[in-house]
Order: sequence, then structure tokens, then C-alpha cells
Amino acid sequence: MRVVSGIQPTGKPHLGNYLGAIVNYVKLQDEAHALGGECFIFLADLHAISQPHDPAELTTNTREMVATLVACGVDPSKTVLFNQAQVPAHAELQWLLNGTARMGWLGRMTQWKDKAGKNREGQSVALFTYPVLQAADVLLYQATHVPVGEDQKQHIELTRDIAQKFNTDFCAEDAPVFTIPEVYTPPTAARIMSLRDGTAKMSKSDPSEMSRISLTDDPDTIMKKVKKAKTDPEPLPSEAQGLEGRAEAQNLVGIFSALTGRSVDEVLADHGGEGFGAFKPALGEVLVETLSPINARFMELKGDQESLDAILARGAAQAREHGLPTLDKAYKALGLVRG
Ligand code: TYM
Repeated sequence: MRVVSGIQPTGKPHLGNYLGAIVNYVKLQDEAHALGGECFIFLADLHAISQPHDPAELTTNTREMVATLVACGVDPSKTVLFNQAQVPAHAELQWLLNGTARMGWLGRMTQWKDKAGKNREGQSVALFTYPVLQAADVLLYQATHVPVGEDQKQHIELTRDIAQKFNTDFCAEDAPVFTIPEVYTPPTAARIMSLRDGTAKMSKSDPSEMSRISLTDDPDTIMKKVKKAKTDPEPLPSEAQGLEGRAEAQNLVGIFSALTGRSVDEVLADHGGEGFGAFKPALGEVLVETLSPINARFMELKGDQESLDAILARGAAQAREHGLPTLDKAYKALGLVRG
């Protein structure tokens, strides 16, 4: 079992990142560790420069993201935790895969279409080729499981297509260079929505702070954001079916379900018939209970820049070593001569 996933160090990580991905980093890290497998979690800092960014902020966000991941339970003694910028093989393998990826495949990516909008000509080349770097991230380590939220599923499907085409075009049938990875998404929280609009994804780039719960929000802020979350005037139904067509209600109940580990039907068996005046404080409490210890640990870790940098340096050294055999095989399969 090889677990590989990444997160961009842009802005503050939020509840969507946590329930959609980070919870599963920790779950799969422990499973892999118990089975004698490996887990690689990295900060996608090379992806973060595909859009306009402030260099000083990127540096700060990178360190804060390491602190957040560790505070959430990613354990550097079980997981290889690093940033892409210290492992040149990611960018090298991307170049090798650029020969296999097709323009048409990249042009169909919804993230590219959403982010570029009507101004495709004005976008960086990096934003367009972003999914090829993501494929390199995953394939470099022969990943079997890739824990991500719903919005990254398409990129992992593309990763599979690139790996399959490379194996078919350049490898003997019994000696493929790349493992074909599987996407791993959570059952109820693969797509957490904005607190201001149940049809939009909760996102780091939403200009409204009220649209998301940051993992480092204090209890008062969490309670305030939940109380102000958009809802409808109806009470909660007593079965999941009754949430259809009620995007905001569905999102809040989904968050409650994911945080408590109970199914949506179980949550509604307890809370069906309640109005949001009663349900929101209950949800707020569950959120505070989950996020308070994370916040406290984050505050302890955040100031110790030296330790955070040491975690990344140590992880990067391990990652460089693990990635090398696959990179060598890819060069060789393409007929490139090296020393
Ligand atoms: P990023 O940084 O946008 O998000 C990190 C993880 O959080 C998940 N996520 C969500 N899940 C549920 N609901 C939401 N509202 C929500 N918002 C974000 C994302 O699906 C992701 O799993 N391209 C990636 C980073 C990346 C990567 C990789 C991931 C680079 N290389 C290789 C996996 C494998 C990204 O920008 O994620």
C-alpha cells in the first residue's frame, strides 16, 4: 500500500480540506503503517506558483501548512512529509510526462476551465499543465491510494490515463513503469460547500471569510460563522431523502455526520423536526470539540520555524530516495541516455 497526496500551501486550510482529505491522510497513514506500506504527503508549492502569488506569503503559508497537518495528526515518523520544491524529481518527471499527456485531455479539465474562465490567453502555462505535474507527483512514488476530495477526482483519473498511455507506448507488457493509482474519497464529506451558498464549494479563494471555517478559527469565530450560515426556514426532515433540493441543509447535516462518524439518517433520527435555531448550536459545539485541540497544537508548533523546516528537509531527503528508481526507469523507457 502506497498512499500519496498533496495540498497547496495557499491561504488557510479549511473544513473542506480537513473532512475531504486530511482526515483520510491520517486514516490511510495509519493503515499503511500497520501493513508495512508507505505514506507520502506533500505541500504542492510548485502548483501554488501557477497563479499570481506573493512570495513572502507562500513561504509563511508553507510553514503554517506543515504545522496544520501535524496538528491534524499527520505524523512525520509514519508519513514522508515534504514540499515539492525540495524534490526536483517531481518537475523532472512532469517534463517526461508532457510528452505523453495530450492538449485535448488538459483542455477538458474542469479546474482549468473554471479558473481560466474566458481569459485563457492570459493564463500561465503552468495553470494549463498543472495536472501533468499532479500526475508526476502521484506516479513518482508508485501510489496505490490517493486520498482527495471530489474536486480532485478528475485530475487523478487523468493521472491514470497518462500512466496507462505511457506504459502502453513505452514499456513491455510485463514491465510497466507506473502503477495505476486509485482515488480514495470520503463517503459523506467529499465536497463540503460554502456556508454562504450551498451550491458553491468551500474554498480558500472565496473572498468571504464567512463562507468557510478555517482549521485555526477560535471557538467564538466558529460559533458566529455557523450561526450566520445560510439556511432555509423549514425544520430538518427525519430522513436523508427529505434533504433533496435543500443544498444548505444538506451541507450542514453532512458536516455534522462527517464530524461525528454517524450516517446522515442517524443524525436525522436524532435531529429531525428541529429548526436551525436548535441544530446550529449543536453543530457549532461538535465543530469546536473537533477543532479546538487542532488549533491548540497548531499554535504550539507554528512558532518553531526551525523544527518545521527540519520536518520538511528530512521528508524531502526520504522522498528523493524513494522517487529515484521510478524516475530512472521513466528516462530509460523513453530511450534517454544518462551517464
Ligand atoms: P487543494 O490544495 O485545493 O486541496 C487539498 C485537498 O482538499 C480537498 N478539498 C475539499 N474536499 C472537500 N470539500 C471541499 N470543499 C474541498 N476543498 C478542497 C481537495 O480535493 C484536496 O484533496 N491539486 C491539488 C493538490 C495536489 C494533489 C497532488 C492532490 C497536487 N498534487 C497529487 C493529490 C495528488 C489541490 O490543489 O488541492
